[in-house]
Amino acid sequence: MAITNNSKQIPVFKPLIEKEEIAAAIESLELGWLGMGSYVKEFEDQVASVCKLDAKSDRHVVAVSTGHAALHLSLLMMGVGPGDEVITPSFNNAADFQAIRACGADPVFVDVKEDTLCIDVSKIEKMITKKTKCIIAMDYDIFVCDHDELIEIGRRHKISILHDAAHSFGSYYKGNPVGNQHDWTMFSFDPVKTITCIDGGAIVVAGHENIKRLQAKRLIGMTQPAAQMYTNSRAWTYDIEELGFRYHMANLHAAIGIAQIKKIDEIRSSRQKTCQLYCDELANIDWIEAPRGEFGSMNPFLYYIRVLNGKRAELREYLKACGVDTGIHWQAGHTFKYLSNCRRGSLDITEQIVNEIVSLPLHSKMNKYDVMHVIESIKSFV
Ligand SMILES: Cc1ncc(COP(=O)(O)O)c(C=O)c1O
Repeated sequence: MAITNNSKQIPVFKPLIEKEEIAAAIESLELGWLGMGSYVKEFEDQVASVCKLDAKSDRHVVAVSTGHAALHLSLLMMGVGPGDEVITPSFNNAADFQAIRACGADPVFVDVKEDTLCIDVSKIEKMITKKTKCIIAMDYDIFVCDHDELIEIGRRHKISILHDAAHSFGSYYKGNPVGNQHDWTMFSFDPVKTITCIDGGAIVVAGHENIKRLQAKRLIGMTQPAAQMYTNSRAWTYDIEELGFRYHMANLHAAIGIAQIKKIDEIRSSRQKTCQLYCDELANIDWIEAPRGEFGSMNPFLYYIRVLNGKRAELREYLKACGVDTGIHWQAGHTFKYLSNCRRGSLDITEQIVNEIVSLPLHSKMNKYDVMHVIESIKSFV
């Protein structure tokens, strides 16, 4: 029989919207400049400071409307176009596949590593052809990719790496903040991310020329100076030099993001503690695999388990009856009709894990009673 939860249904995601975020939203609305403006500049500076971007690296932040927009613009800027191929794990978010297709290119699917569910770097090189323009390195949930090896592969084959760090904002790779590993990194600040702008994204890119182009591309190609928009005003004359999109971030979204970033240490440590508790309490259940990550270096996005006894659907139903919502991140890309013809390597691990993974509730400042209720509910499933 399902064990009851005296409170409510525990959701998989629960954004941390407190009085500070609401006050920031009101303040930005009262300013009366709703579009891209001073808050966006401050948000970009805050993102740069979380990433500890060092001035010598010439890396800069460009805020955009979503993570998907960040992926699309980055791929276009890398020169990805019709006929090109982009290597990505099949185990990835639909946003990545659609951004590749939006450039007219095709995804090429590679398997993930069983212990991290990040791209298996040992399987990349055999999929590289003359058409390969880019490799997407996506950090998954509580793990980061083998970035050193990805840098080596990129160098050997002269292929760009796009670091999809939608899950790893505020995390570290070998002691270095995420955002410093590659020439192109993107973040998402959508409603379920550790830091949210409601919707938002950012690109960390190297090189001043790239910044200017990106700033125009996010503003339907208008070359009016971002510096002027950052003072909550605009130029009435400008040029259009290339294709652009309405992908800029608005002041309201940036204001909420700034309020969130101020809490990043608290957010990170509370999520680390919850992951550690899940990991410790679920480690010895023989029909589950509970990942053991380097939580201390991560700002964990999601905690997942693998259900090894073939009863995932039953477990999810049972947990729902116990008041615990769960999720599935994700279905494999190569199984979607729209992408079924894309080239792929062997996807044995992907095929297996997509039938086993379950995302458990993980919130910033998640109350311990709720975490223990999730754990006890799982333990009581027979
Ligand atoms: C790995 C990954 N990349 C990209 C995205 C797209 O970000 P957004 O939802 O901000 O468009 C997501 C969204 O969840 C994601 O999980």
